[in-house]
Amino acid sequence: MADADPRADAQALCRADELVERGKAVVFDVVLWRQPARAFALRFDGRVVAYINRCAHVPTEMDWQPGEFLDADKRYIICSIHGATYEPASGRCVAGPCPRGRLMPVEVSEQGGEVSWYPSRDIAPLSFDDDGAPFASRVPAA
Ligand code: FES
Repeated sequence: MADADPRADAQALCRADELVERGKAVVFDVVLWRQPARAFALRFDGRVVAYINRCAHVPTEMDWQPGEFLDADKRYIICSIHGATYEPASGRCVAGPCPRGRLMPVEVSEQGGEVSWYPSRDIAPLSFDDDGAPFASRVPAA
């Protein structure tokens, strides 16, 4: 068995085998710029990629059904609202009402059969206070 992720800031996301090639995404909660937001991870061409679930056209969630982000041919991420189309590997807009826009990436890794994501200057884990209410946890320094 391979070693677990050595990075102290790794946030456990899911088992690697939960993300099948061009299949359903795993959606997860984060804090983006100190506001609750959602992100998603999916496997494309063998690699796990993750982005904030927010369209570059209008800042809204994009999935057709929970966790369903890919078009009918499973080639592109497509926004369910007006059809903005993104390249899964880069998050770059390739068609639709998102010219020069791109999805905001979330850093992920796959090690030891587990997928983790990593906080950044802008994206932090969601935490809960003693009453169980969510709040924004520490946002790492740049
Ligand atoms: S909100 Fe995504 S294409 Fe308009």
